[in-house]
Amino acid sequence: MITIDGPAGAGKSTVARELARRLGYRLIDTGALYRGVAWRVREAGVDPEDRQGLERLLGSTTIDIKDGAVLVDGRDVSAEVRTAEVGELASRLAALAAVRAKVTPIQRRLAAAGGAVLEGRDTGSVVCPDAEVKFYLDASPEVRAIRRQRELAERGIAADPKAVRAGILQRDRQDMERVLAPLVVPEGATVIDSTGRSVEEVVGLMLEAVERLGCSTRS
Ligand code: DC
Repeated sequence: MITIDGPAGAGKSTVARELARRLGYRLIDTGALYRGVAWRVREAGVDPEDRQGLERLLGSTTIDIKDGAVLVDGRDVSAEVRTAEVGELASRLAALAAVRAKVTPIQRRLAAAGGAVLEGRDTGSVVCPDAEVKFYLDASPEVRAIRRQRELAERGIAADPKAVRAGILQRDRQDMERVLAPLVVPEGATVIDSTGRSVEEVVGLMLEAVERLGCSTRS
């Protein structure tokens, strides 16, 4: 089991995908489940402050990841969950106990068979504290904002750089300052700063650590 945690825009999904590919491991994007919940809450028009309504909705909703697709009540919403609005709502909802109680067991079930790279905010600290290798991937706010803006541009969305940076800092605060399972550097994690490093360089550092810790399946 390998975990990669870190703030928004640090490059986790890109390097996690590449690391999983190189090791022949499964990739588990844990944030996609929070995004799935957020998509459902939005679609149902439930106010996140309405705790009873939210719990009712969670009780009647199934969330899963199959073959890389996010399934909400069996419907593939992989593309819909990628918007900034859904990401922002996911971050707000992820601070709530009822939402975490729904999502964390699903993440553990998905990871249970091992041979997996998990990426998210609390995968090494809460979801899989027994993971053999843990990483914390960071980057400067400037670089993270530039990456986010590039991602948006690729999807044809023009965004003001100042607003993107402010959004990133707001998300950091929300994810780091929450009481339940805040974003932290997990105990025993290798910290990697991706500022000024290519994907290849970051994955190379990770592969070295995996090899050092002796859990590589590569021949
Ligand atoms: O990585 P992402 O942007 O898809 O995640 C969306 C939100 O979900 C993130 O801001 C916080 C929450 N999250 C979490 O609390 N724990 C995780 N393991 C993954 C994501």
